[in-house]
Amino acid sequence: MCGIVGYIGDEQATPILIEGLKKLEYRGYDSAGIAVINDGNINIKKAKGRISELEETLKKNNLYGSIGIGHTRWATHGEPSDINSHPHLSQSGVIAVVHNGIIENYLPLKKRLIEEGYTFKSETDTEVVANLLEYYYKGDIVEAVMKVLDRIEGSYALGVLSKDYPDMIVAARKDAPLIVGLGDGENFIASDVPAILKHTRKVYFLDDKEIAIIKKDSVKIIDAFGKDVQKSVFEVKWDVESAEKGGYEHFMLKEIHEQPNAIKDTLRGRIVNDGEIVLDKVKITKDEIDKIEKIFIVACGTAYHAGVVGKYAIEKFARIPVEVDIASEFRYREPIINERTLTIVVSQSGETADTIAALKEAKKHNSRVIAITNVVGSSISREADDVIYTWAGPEIAVASTKAYTTQLVALYLIALDLALKKGTIEKEYAKQICDELKKLPEKAERILNYKDELQEFASNHFNTKDVFYLGRGLDYAVAMEGSLKLKEISYIHSEAYAAGELKHGTLALIENGTLVIALATQEHLFEKMLSNIREVTTRGGYVLAFAMEGNKQLEGIVEKVIYLPKTMEEVAPIITVIPLQLLAYYMAVEKGCDVDKPRNLAKSVTVE
Ligand code: F6R
Repeated sequence: MCGIVGYIGDEQATPILIEGLKKLEYRGYDSAGIAVINDGNINIKKAKGRISELEETLKKNNLYGSIGIGHTRWATHGEPSDINSHPHLSQSGVIAVVHNGIIENYLPLKKRLIEEGYTFKSETDTEVVANLLEYYYKGDIVEAVMKVLDRIEGSYALGVLSKDYPDMIVAARKDAPLIVGLGDGENFIASDVPAILKHTRKVYFLDDKEIAIIKKDSVKIIDAFGKDVQKSVFEVKWDVESAEKGGYEHFMLKEIHEQPNAIKDTLRGRIVNDGEIVLDKVKITKDEIDKIEKIFIVACGTAYHAGVVGKYAIEKFARIPVEVDIASEFRYREPIINERTLTIVVSQSGETADTIAALKEAKKHNSRVIAITNVVGSSISREADDVIYTWAGPEIAVASTKAYTTQLVALYLIALDLALKKGTIEKEYAKQICDELKKLPEKAERILNYKDELQEFASNHFNTKDVFYLGRGLDYAVAMEGSLKLKEISYIHSEAYAAGELKHGTLALIENGTLVIALATQEHLFEKMLSNIREVTTRGGYVLAFAMEGNKQLEGIVEKVIYLPKTMEEVAPIITVIPLQLLAYYMAVEKGCDVDKPRNLAKSVTVE
């Protein structure tokens, strides 16, 4: 998730681009850069770090000209560095590109271009696009863009400048946001509305595979075949503050809504040939897997809860014993680790002090360490032997949402990879799971429509003092996360229990009206869960249950049932958690809490 901007008009482009980038810094802040055309040349300035670093560079050496593109980076391919920063120039300097997204087939394309004599300065997929554009460029930049779009796979929002076209920006998108801002004698491109709001409220929202040809007095949109597309102008009504949150009231709500895409992005390119798993650069052979006696998953908070789901998945599919550890406990309890142990550390930020310490502890005892993290170049990504990135994009709300669901995706992919190589899972079954994973973004999207129902429920229950979350198997793992979400943002006391454990003590706390959230998505445990729910209802507990579509057995037994789109129970946690996030969110809003910045908490806990 990076941010791109572009300007063409009569004003100086640099200040407009910088100002736009600042409004997009929430999309990434590993580096920033701009390209501006002046006297028939493309001039570029870029710098690692925040936009303020780029401004410092520009103070020494400003860029002049009234057409330009800019980028603020959330590193994906290649660590954060000056050289990997955008814009990227094609080999002969004729074309400059900014890009948000991931080009999945960049490696074979890069290989082909190297054979054609191209050299590369950076590790990025974007430089491949710049050089591919140059390769296809025979004097018509739009034609070159169309050819490139036909060759690249993955997601992209692209802004393209050519020094032969000092009066034109070409932009295109697929599976990454891009808007065109319509001004008077000036036009803009941007990843998001806040970047251009100061200049115009009239925008086109580009659709997938559309190309925009932008001049200062005109904007033409064509499809992938060059046919004209008629777009309607959207008038933005939001103020600047809500525009930064995509029109949502809080970043948390925005991030909950980003989950369908985040899940899609994290799966992208990782399931190939109908059920084979490709985990970036992680190469773990059958021989190595056969030697693993135990797996540790180590993390904190929400990431730890993702680890609990990971344990169920790895043990079920790959039949390797898994221990899930709280990172702050791990190194002090002398865990039994050796070269036959695989350690998986999970961390959104990649900077959590306890998780880093656990990682070091594992390495000290010769365990191979795989990191699942959301931040390229983070300490954890650098210290681990292998890294699998969650492509959730920056998470700003303190309460983690999209990081959790994408951590689950990464853990399922690891579980399937280990199982397929070890031969503990039938290929047909693995394929079914993969097919189901691919359907989850659409199912997650449907769950987002339950908002009104959950908001109404919250408005009737936000005064409650205690909430109990119950589940069995994978539902118990999700219950832990649902409970954490509620307590951290609404300050309502809540606890998660394995439903069968309730009668061993906690049932004493259930009385008339106690709110209980019962998760009942696991078909093979449904009858047992039903008995546990009855234990609660007979003591007067007020139960909100979540069950799979088609299973009506809870009707009349509990106060309210919310039905989740039917999915394989093995992967249900990825979607079951979403209504729990929404419920926590609306409870907190009803209570008037500071949802994005709950008291006493920080986004990244870099102290022990
Ligand atoms: C809760 C939450 C925290 C983090 C935990 C680990 O919503 O966000 O519990 O999950 O502090 O942080 P990372 O994943 O950055 O290591």
